[in-house]
Amino acid sequence: MRILETKNYQEMSQLAAEYIIEKIRHSAQINLGLATGSTPLGTYSEMIKDFEKDETSYQHVRTFNLDEYVGLDNKHPNSYNYFMRENLFNHINITEEQTHIPNGMAANIEKVCQGYEELLEKQGGIDLQLLGIGKNGHIGFNEPGTSFESITHKVKLAQSTRLANARFFTSMDKVPTHAITMGISTILRSKEILLLVSGEEKSEAVKQLFYGPINENFPASVLNTHQNVTIIGDKKAFAGII
Ligand code: PGA
Repeated sequence: MRILETKNYQEMSQLAAEYIIEKIRHSAQINLGLATGSTPLGTYSEMIKDFEKDETSYQHVRTFNLDEYVGLDNKHPNSYNYFMRENLFNHINITEEQTHIPNGMAANIEKVCQGYEELLEKQGGIDLQLLGIGKNGHIGFNEPGTSFESITHKVKLAQSTRLANARFFTSMDKVPTHAITMGISTILRSKEILLLVSGEEKSEAVKQLFYGPINENFPASVLNTHQNVTIIGDKKAFAGII
């Protein structure tokens, strides 16, 4: 793992955006795996600024998001589809056809999961996957206990994850109970992974990632087995660790 420490969240976001932009400029037809949540927001905002100023083109980029809630439609402000359009896609030159997010409103979720795997395979897989980490070590919505062999599947969200995400909803009972997520083996098939960590609330998870055992109780530990992982984190996330 390559570890890059930054002063703060803003610097982490700038560095992550530069990292991604450099890959796009080098390989215009890149398949990007994208993540939602608070952590990548600043990165997306820097990518938008760069698009406006330096005109990095997304004309040939394809994107594949990690996950989506079951039961929230595209217009729901808390759906990840809405999040991506609002925070990135609507502000760069990318068409809807180039962006992929599992459909959490489909009648047949199993079919969506299988279709997502097939799509990834047909499109040549993910070149660079952006990741965040949950305090419990989840990656995507792969909660502790998820098999390292898992592919895209429907998950029941851990109560701790629902609580962490409740801040975006008007009340806890509005937080979806299920989601679709790329599996751990799906994520590991990415040629390269860029993990972002920010804030002291993530420092325990980072410590566990670096020094804990590699097993399914802490899903992110599997990243230690991947050949090409870069972690960009701020001082607070690495506090007392590196
Ligand atoms: P966060 O979520 O970026 O909102 O902290 C990360 C995650 O749960 O994967």
